[in-house]
Amino acid sequence: MRPSQRISGLALICLLLAKFHLAVARDYTRTYLGCYPDPDNKDLTGLTGVSALLGYTVKSWLAVQHSSMTFELCGSICSAGGFPYMGLQVRVECFCGWSYGNHGAPVEADCDMSCEGNSSQICGGDTSSSVFGLQYTSPNLFKRSARTYFSVTNPTSFYRNVTAVEKAQCLLQCINDCQAVLYNQQLSLCHLLKFVLLPTELNTTDGEFYIRC
Ligand SMILES: *[C@@H]1O[C@H](CO)[C@@H](O)[C@H](O)[C@H]1NC(C)=O
Ligand SMILES: *[C@@H]1O[C@H](CO)[C@@H](O)[C@H](O)[C@H]1NC(C)=O
Ligand SMILES: *[C@@H]1O[C@H](CO)[C@@H](O)[C@H](O)[C@H]1NC(C)=O
Repeated sequence: MRPSQRISGLALICLLLAKFHLAVARDYTRTYLGCYPDPDNKDLTGLTGVSALLGYTVKSWLAVQHSSMTFELCGSICSAGGFPYMGLQVRVECFCGWSYGNHGAPVEADCDMSCEGNSSQICGGDTSSSVFGLQYTSPNLFKRSARTYFSVTNPTSFYRNVTAVEKAQCLLQCINDCQAVLYNQQLSLCHLLKFVLLPTELNTTDGEFYIRC
């Protein structure tokens, strides 16, 4: 079996499951990793270059800050970029990242603030983050999704174009740091995207949008 046929089959399975579920979200499970020091608020820097996503503004220190912050809200923000880690801090802030723990060993007692959106959850401390791992349930499957946009400072750093004569060939090239594709069969043009969101600059670009499950 050629790799493209195999990928095509996998993609189809997820498309059928996703037929009535067009929400832009990846499926994940969450694991608590510890309370890590973050004195300068820069341990998790995954939202670098993102100005706003899912209706939330990203602060200059790379946090989404919101009065309804919960584990679930932060998870939906960070899963949009396929990040393996999220961190919550000072009741209301959410950070995403590819690594964590750059400022030393965890100190559990330092995470003593409940989340503003759910008092049963702990959202870090003054200078510490409650860090979680996000494990994606079906990382190698794709589903058709509604097009959703986000604002970025430099659009070309959030996608790249490759050639693909069929959908499977486009999906097959979505590896390493690729969460979604926008595929235009007529132009054989495959846009590989870093988030399950499209930079607004692609709002006039035609194509079918597929995101990782
Ligand atoms: C609040 O957080 C707890 C612990 O994570 C969870 O079990 C509960 O469902 C959450 N409440 C709401 C309304 O989401
Ligand atoms: C598309 O996005 C640009 C900003 O990148 C905006 O100026 C324009 O109004 C948008 N067009 C539509 C049709 O939404
Ligand atoms: C990628 O394709 C889009 C049109 O879909 C185009 O606007 C953009 O300039 C292309 N980017 C590069 C780097 O070729």
